[in-house]
Formats: sequence, C-alpha cells, structure tokens
Amino acid sequence: MPFSPDDLATIDTPAVLIDLDIARRNIERFQHYADSHGLRVRPHIKTHKLPAIAEIQLAAGAVGITCQKVSEAEAMVAGSDAITDVLITYNILGTEKLNRLKALAQKVRLSVVADSKRVADGLSATFGDQTSLLPVLVECDTGANRCGVQSPEAAEALATYIDASPGLVFGGLMTYPPLGGESVVETFMTQAKALIEARGIAVPVITSGGTPSMMQAADAPVTTEYRPGTYVYNDGSLVARGVCGWDDCALTVLATVVSVPTPNRAIIDAGSKTLTSDLLGLTGYGHVLGRDDIAIDQLSEEHGRLISSGAIGLAVGDRVRIVPNHACVVTNMVDTVLVAGDGLSAPTSWPIVARGKIV
Ligand SMILES: Cc1ncc(COP(=O)(O)O)c(C=O)c1O
Repeated sequence: MPFSPDDLATIDTPAVLIDLDIARRNIERFQHYADSHGLRVRPHIKTHKLPAIAEIQLAAGAVGITCQKVSEAEAMVAGSDAITDVLITYNILGTEKLNRLKALAQKVRLSVVADSKRVADGLSATFGDQTSLLPVLVECDTGANRCGVQSPEAAEALATYIDASPGLVFGGLMTYPPLGGESVVETFMTQAKALIEARGIAVPVITSGGTPSMMQAADAPVTTEYRPGTYVYNDGSLVARGVCGWDDCALTVLATVVSVPTPNRAIIDAGSKTLTSDLLGLTGYGHVLGRDDIAIDQLSEEHGRLISSGAIGLAVGDRVRIVPNHACVVTNMVDTVLVAGDGLSAPTSWPIVARGKIV
C-alpha cells in the first residue's frame, strides 16, 4: 500500500496524493498498446506537470513530450535533462512568446503547430534567421470544433505555405479529435497526406491524441503518433466513460471532515480551490472512494458538501479520499503533490514544476 493507513490519518489536508505504482501501470499499459501497433507515444504533460513523471514516460518508450504553452515547455525542459523533444500543440502569437520559443529551440528538438498563415508568419519572422528550420505541423479540426484547418485542402494549402516560409519546415499533421473520431481522423488525414505528398512535400508525422479513445488509436492507421495526457492518472470523467476503474485512478484528494451538521450531511476541507468546479459533464464534484452513496453536490472555495442517500456515517475528524472529475485541473491548483509507491520509502512532496504556466 503506497499510502499506509497511518499516512492517510496524519497527512495534513487537503492534500493531492499520487500513487506512483498506479501511474506507472497506466503508462506501461498504453505504451504496450502503442508499441504493439507501431504508434509512437508523446504524452501530454498537462495532467501531471512533473518532469519526474515525464522521465518515467520517456523511460517506458515515449519519444518526447507534448506541452500546451511555451512557459509550460520551458519549465519541463529546465526540470529534466531527459526531456529533449517537445511538441507545443498551440498557436503561438506575440513577440515575447516567439522570442522565448526561439530560446527554447536552442535547448531541445522543438516543433509547434499552426492553423493559419498569420501564426506561420510570426514563426517565420522569428526563425527566419536560423540555420536549423523549425518544424511546424498543421493543426486539423477533425470534429472537436476547437482549433484547426477545416478541410484536407486547407491543410494542403497551409502545409505548402509553411514549407515555403523562411526558417520553417512542414512538420506534419496534428489533431485533437472528438471521442470516437478515429474514422474521421483516418479519412481527413489520408486525404491531406495524399494532397501534400502530391506537391512533393513529405508528411513525417501524423499525431492524434486523447485518453478516452486511446485504446482505439490504431483504428486510424494513418496516425504515426499519439498524445495521451490524462491516462497517467485517470479521473472520474474517464471512469464514467468506462475507460478505467477507480483502482486505475492514481490521483486522489485527501480531505478531512470538518463538520457534520445533519445526519446525512458532512462538510470537508476541500472545496473548489482543490477539487475545482470542473464538472466535465458529470453530476457532482468528485467520487468519495468506497462510498457510492455519497454525492459531493456543492462546493465553495474551502468547503465541500457531502450528502448521503442515508446516514452519512462520518464524524468530525474523519478522512475521505476523493477521485476528482478532472485530474489535470487539480494539479494546477496546488504547489505540491504527495507521491508514494514505486520504491519511495515514505510519501514525498514533489513541487508541481509546470503549474500555473499559462503563457
Ligand atoms: C492538443 C491536445 N493533445 C492531447 C491532449 C490529451 O488529452 P487527454 O487528456 O484526454 O489524454 C489534450 C488535452 O486537452 C490536448 O489539448
């Protein structure tokens, strides 16, 4: 048991706990799937924000990491010499960020995405005087309706533009698809690849991502690389989707009951500042392990309200462990996580190196 009963009774709360044994199992499970389907793994670090866990992912076979923001990438690279290959899956705009990106490109193998000429122009203006070219992937909207060019023809046009831009080289195609979007990804990417190759431009990478569909990633065989993020910890949203069970959830919030005002209600010391208000389509703000009868139905910043369908059976001072709806946002809320398992002799506090990195 990575966290002993004594640990769970004495750790100061609220605390975010990471069971490294479960995290390692989650990492290895997907790496094994990817290896057996010839897929390269490039985990998105937004879930853990920890260089030490990126190192476990890289040691398991990941080819590099994915970050969403320049500052996030800077923090991760500064935190580990093992991180030598970074993809930033975000349109980067503005002189300050572009200059920081240029500095980062001196340290690691860096690639970025763009879904417009405007973004490509900024990258080219910054990298135009460099001898080594910056790989820029075209982001494609395959149904998630977020960023991305809207058709294979638009991908072809932007890929051609990027490849002709000083300082840049076309780096491939990137998408963050909707749940179950494998067939759309396959069709979109196959067409885009053919159009781009017909222009004599190589398509070295086709990268997709997302934990909910990761075990179907090979159903889009045109994909060469996959970027799961939440898979490392899992969370309530993934249990609700049937992707994993509670035993696969590596991140939990340990909270103390601070009040039991009525027989069916208890209040804990974890509110929206820890669990976050992110419902991710679920009802309630997290799952109390071992207590299917309890709903966390209301949060204020420092209070969480637990309601039971029967007697709550908790006393002031009792502790509960909660699997949050969305693990990634929880790790952005706290300075440190307490990590146990994987050979550590006692729970150890790890600073969340890349938290709060929003620029
Ligand atoms: C661009 C991109 N790639 C990969 C991921 C990882 O997705 P998940 O956390 O579902 O694995 C995300 C998540 O937001 C993303 O935005």
